Order: sequence, then C-alpha cells, then structure tokens
Amino acid sequence: MILNPNAENITRAASELRNGNLVIIPTETVYGLAALALDPAAVAKIFEAKGRPATNPLIVHIAEASQAADLAEVNHAAFAILSSRFWPGPLTMVLPKKDNVPDVTTGGLDTVAVRVPNHPVALALLTEVGAPLAAPSANRYTALSPSKVQHLDAQLLEIVALVIDGGPCRIGIESTVVDLSGEGVKVLRPGMISAAEIAVALGEKVDSHADSPLSPGHSQKHYAPRTKVSITTDLGSKPGLSFGEPQNETQIQMPSDPAAYAQELYDSLATMDQFALPEFFIVAPPETAEWHAIWDRLRKAVSSD
Ligand code: TXA
Ligand code: MG
Repeated sequence: MILNPNAENITRAASELRNGNLVIIPTETVYGLAALALDPAAVAKIFEAKGRPATNPLIVHIAEASQAADLAEVNHAAFAILSSRFWPGPLTMVLPKKDNVPDVTTGGLDTVAVRVPNHPVALALLTEVGAPLAAPSANRYTALSPSKVQHLDAQLLEIVALVIDGGPCRIGIESTVVDLSGEGVKVLRPGMISAAEIAVALGEKVDSHADSPLSPGHSQKHYAPRTKVSITTDLGSKPGLSFGEPQNETQIQMPSDPAAYAQELYDSLATMDQFALPEFFIVAPPETAEWHAIWDRLRKAVSSD
C-alpha cells in the first residue's frame, strides 16, 4: 500500500515500525526499507525481504546527530566536524559500535554505520518512532536502488506493511560512506558528497579508493539493471542514455550537470529496463572528480560478473 506523506499516514507508519514491521520510506538519496535498528527480529525481516547476505551491514538512521552517541563511539575528531557540516544529509559515518546495537544490524562487525537523512518525511518518522531505523536501499539484493516509488519491486511491496511516497529522491544515488572507526578518514563508498569536500571540511587528506571493496557488500554485482548495459562514446541510433537530443523512443537525454544526472540515473536505468531490450548503452560522462560517484554506479551497472 503506497500512501501520501500526510501526518496521519506518518503516524500509521511509525506505529507499524514500532510493532516491528517493515515500512518503505523516502530519503533524499534513495528509498529505504526501514525497520527498528535495535530490534533483531525486525532487522532480520529486512535481510529476508531483500534476499541480502547476513554479512552485509545496514545503515542506522537517526533524527539528529546527538543520538549517534547512543549507538556508537563518537570521539573521532572528524565526527563532530562532519556531522555539523553535512548532517542532515547524504553522508554515512562508520563508527565503533556500542553493545546495544545488535550483531544482525552490523553484519557481525564491531562498527556501525550511522546517518541523519535530509528528508522531512524520514525525519518526521524517526522523531515519531523515537528510535533509530535501519534502512538499506529498498531494492532486492543486487537490483537497482529505487529513487521513485514507481520502481519499487512488486515482491517487496507485498512484504512491507506500507510505503510512504515522498516523491522523487532529490540526490538519486546512495549516500557517501566514510570510515571513522580507525585512524584517519576513508571513503568506503563514493557519493555526491565528494572526498574533496570532506577533505576541505576536515582540513586533512581523505583516503578515497575509487573501487574500494572495503564496504562489505559494496560489490561489483550491485546496482545492475536486468538488461545488459555497456558504455559507449557515441550512442548513434542505439538504445540508451546520452547527453544529446534523443533520436528515437529508446533513447533518454541525460543532464550534463552531475547532480542532475545522479538524480535521474536510477530512474532512467529503470525506464530502460522496462523497454525489455536485449541490450542498451550509456554515453560516457566526463572522467572528472565531480562525476566520480556516478562512474562508480555506472561501473556497477555494466559489470556482468
Ligand atoms: O543513501 C543511503 O545510504 C541509503 C538510504 C536509504 O539511506 N541506504 C543505503 O543502504 O544505501 P545500503 O544498505 O543499500 O548500503 C549500505 C552500505 C553498504 O555498502 C554497506 O556495506 C555499508 O553501507 N556499511 C554499512 N555498515 C557498515 C559498516 N559497519 N562498515 C562498513 N560498511 C558498512
Ligand atoms: Mg543498497
């Protein structure tokens, strides 16, 4: 059941969550499949619904930065700086976990990933639930993340108690994940908050691995459409995503601005999938730093392993 984000429906969603059920919620990045983060039985439902391996940890969403200390050690110097600069927003910080965070939530790791989402519906829900929510992207394992409710998987829709429709997600790709659990600051998953922006905020160098396998589950298999996809320099009349005027109905014109491109990427890939063609193509964007997170997702979309 897909509901509008009015106060009554948010209250209903909060009560489903408090009862240990799954709710699909909007965030500014992508839709999330949410459950009580500190309730092992509720979290287990997320893994089952997604078909996600138990070793792939979840992000815990909180309403405000001060709540991070209830879940994690926040004494890393970068935490205060990054949380005040980027939260609420599309940045996830991995920190040493406290004992109240169940192992099932963190995939057995002694760290926990935390973020304050920048979406009024997500924040209203978190406040009304009054407890942290684990929420991976609301897709089945290895499928595309949904940035619009239209692209939610039919099987997932059957399983969840309800969906709150918050409209299209403004950022469109998943949050930047940074590791603050050891020395220094490492980017585990690139996102629209870049390593360069984080380095400027901190006044120090940030480790950014272009294709880091450091984030468990950030595997090559993620984010793939069902259709075979390849990168090309010139689309011609082939189906796919380009920057130029569409030449036929199997082509989608993408924005030349990276933020706008990211916002439309998963929606456009899902639309291409619906055409059910044997193959489609994506015109290579520039190889500059501001396209880094998009390239990361494109590489995942084209990989066939
Ligand atoms: O934008 C987002 O982050 C979305 C929205 C819904 O908030 N969520 C999301 O969650 O993308 P998910 O589960 O699809 O991706 C979480 C990523 C995975 O790559 C996971 O391995 C990593 O974060 N992660 C979670 N906990 C971690 C930990 N303790 N250590 C290292 N990586 C972790
Ligand atoms: Mg995901």
